[in-house]
Amino acid sequence: MKTFKTALAVGAFALLATAATAVIADDCIDCHTKVSPGMVQDWKASEHSKNDVTCSSCHGAKHTTAEDSKSAQLPSEEVCAECHQEQFDSFAMGKHNFGWTALNAIPATHMAPDELIEGGRGCGGCHNMGIKSEAQKKDQLEKGYRYQTNSCDECHTRHTFSKKEANSPRACQQCHMGYDHPQWEMWSSSKHGARYFAIQNGDLPKSAVAPTCQTCHLPDGTHENHTAWGFLGVRLPLPEDKQEAADRVTILKALGVLDPETGEPTAILDAVKAVDMARLDQASWEKERTKMLKTCTQCHSETYARVQLEMGDSILGKADRLMAEAIETVAALYKEGIIKKPAGYPHNYPFLLSFMHTNGAAWDKDLDKLSFIDQVLLRMYMKHRMRAYQAFFHVNPDYAYWYGWNMMTEDLGEIKELAKTMRATHKK
Ligand code: HEC
Ligand code: HEC
Ligand code: HEC
Ligand code: HEC
Ligand code: HEC
Ligand code: HEC
Ligand code: HEC
Ligand code: HEC
Repeated sequence: MKTFKTALAVGAFALLATAATAVIADDCIDCHTKVSPGMVQDWKASEHSKNDVTCSSCHGAKHTTAEDSKSAQLPSEEVCAECHQEQFDSFAMGKHNFGWTALNAIPATHMAPDELIEGGRGCGGCHNMGIKSEAQKKDQLEKGYRYQTNSCDECHTRHTFSKKEANSPRACQQCHMGYDHPQWEMWSSSKHGARYFAIQNGDLPKSAVAPTCQTCHLPDGTHENHTAWGFLGVRLPLPEDKQEAADRVTILKALGVLDPETGEPTAILDAVKAVDMARLDQASWEKERTKMLKTCTQCHSETYARVQLEMGDSILGKADRLMAEAIETVAALYKEGIIKKPAGYPHNYPFLLSFMHTNGAAWDKDLDKLSFIDQVLLRMYMKHRMRAYQAFFHVNPDYAYWYGWNMMTEDLGEIKELAKTMRATHKK
């Protein structure tokens, strides 16, 4: 109701400001019915068309002919906020709002072809989440990329801008899938997903329950999405168990946030903090965990749910034992001078945030060709460790074991073999 009133107010203001609004809107639709009929059809199916939110409400009225289409404004999230302030504000507090900034904080991003970043068909296709700063917009335009200006249409696809579509777990699939974050695959083949599809198929009554991504991550219409562990699966304070604490420190060194020599925090830690990549104190971690646990108790007993979540924490600790051993094996080769520090690496130490298995192709000017053993280490972290613990939280046995834990043990074996061979064949 509140949004509707705002919409009316803005609509009335627009009408006063440009008396010709109605005429212009019709012009847009007339011409675009010929130029891009599918788009007009989509808009006609939207709540916007029923509420006099027309083409010019979002694109302005400066472009009026086939030749001047570059004068059309491509609306940023601020344009949506004129009528949907509440959703804009909660989106702005969430993790999605860091998508573009986090992507650009990774050095390797700038070694990838622009088509895959600003062009939106690689990292940038999924990380086009987040309200861009003026500097970020300028940078994008200077590189010659004009589109990808809006995050809201990632879940409410233009030009239907539907609430129902965004409430479907399919709305998350495009990005939450694949190599390092197969949440779609894990959820859809878990008991939770199977039941959701059974309800959809009519195999179970509509009144049966099954949680979707939105149930657990965007409850009660919020657009703010944080989790306790987050993507990297590290946090502070360190665990009480001595071995587990030592293993996490090893991983923090390989993430570059602690100096491998001194153990002191580095500038990379500031970058990680700036995009809220990890929870850095007990309270902020517990706040998210408590919220999640409350969601589980819509359907499960609290004890049952707590036991499940704590197993996830525990498997992460065990996965970190394997991970730390692998890092230490590769780090020893750096120390002995068998691997030469790649130019883009912050320390003479393995670097997990390099993200890419770069092969020294023409465009990665700043990063030397990575050794194969480094590539195996990246794969172990990005692909298999992610799966080992993410699957626990998404209740998926196969991902937790075969695609996760089991593959980590295989990676560790490979790394140890490779290290042996490298030592044996190294010319002093
Ligand atoms: C006389 C026909 C005509 C009218 C009137 C018209 N458009 Fe267009 N518009 C086009 C054509 C043709 C293109 C595609 C140009 C191209 O492919 O490069 C276009 C492209 C666009 C684009 C995409 C711009 C881009 O950078 O790719 C937007 C947005 C747009 N129109 C919105 C509008 C709005 C809003 C109105 C009314 C204010 C409007 N159009 C009126 C013909 C028209
Ligand atoms: C609620 C806001 C909104 C309304 C209303 C709206 N658009 Fe858009 N439109 C967008 C957004 C957001 C984009 C994506 C911009 C980007 O990628 O940078 C877009 C992109 C476009 C594009 C370029 C992308 C493509 O697929 O060609 C065209 C053309 C366009 N709109 C035309 C129209 C026309 C015609 C209407 C009216 C029938 C209309 N829009 C109504 C928000 C809107
Ligand atoms: C000029 C005001 C205005 C602008 C600008 C605007 N909207 Fe809307 N929007 C409305 C109105 C009015 C409704 C229908 C009533 C309601 O749901 O509040 C609506 C409804 C919606 C809905 C719910 C649709 C449904 O299926 O129930 C979504 C989602 C939405 N808008 C997204 C957007 C996005 C994203 C943008 C920016 C690209 C945007 N809107 C820009 C006024 C606007
Ligand atoms: C298929 C979509 C997709 C592609 C392609 C993609 N990402 Fe991501 N990225 C995501 C999602 C989704 C997350 C959050 C996953 C999670 O928390 O499990 C994420 C998380 C991240 C994070 C951590 C952000 C944080 O704050 O926790 C960084 C950094 C990142 N990606 C960088 C990249 C880089 C660099 C590339 C290209 C080499 C890339 N991504 C390609 C979807 C994608
Ligand atoms: C990650 C996916 C996602 C993104 C991105 C997203 N939304 Fe939504 N949005 C949702 C979901 C899910 C709902 C349904 C919430 C509900 O059922 O109450 C929703 C609901 C809405 C509604 C309808 C509210 C109502 O109760 O009628 C509006 C308006 C809206 N979003 C606007 C926006 C705007 C503006 C943005 C960008 C700042 C945005 N959304 C970005 C997922 C998303
Ligand atoms: C039954 C609730 C539930 C459902 C359904 C669910 N998740 Fe999760 N999700 C979790 C829990 C629990 C965590 C771990 C939270 C923590 O760190 O304590 C998590 C973590 C995440 C993370 C952070 C990284 C990770 O995987 O641990 C992302 C991203 C995510 N979920 C996305 C999704 C997507 C997308 C879907 C739907 C395809 C989905 N989730 C379905 C409960 C759920
Ligand atoms: C256009 C791609 C895209 C879509 C669609 C998308 N996400 Fe995301 N999501 C991302 C990216 C990228 C990140 C990491 C953001 C960052 O860098 O901090 C992310 C992060 C998250 C996180 C936070 C994980 C953490 O680190 O704590 C959750 C939870 C999440 N998404 C849930 C969802 C849900 C639920 C949906 C569907 C309603 C959805 N996302 C739709 C790209 C997407
Ligand atoms: C909307 C209801 C709902 C919510 C919320 C929900 N679940 Fe479930 N969950 C179910 C149903 C229904 C089943 C299948 C019957 C059963 O095992 O109780 C299930 C099954 C499970 C299973 C057993 C899976 C298997 O393969 O046997 C686990 C573990 C589980 N849920 C954990 C969780 C956790 C942890 C949360 C919160 C992060 C959660 N669930 C949230 C409804 C829900």
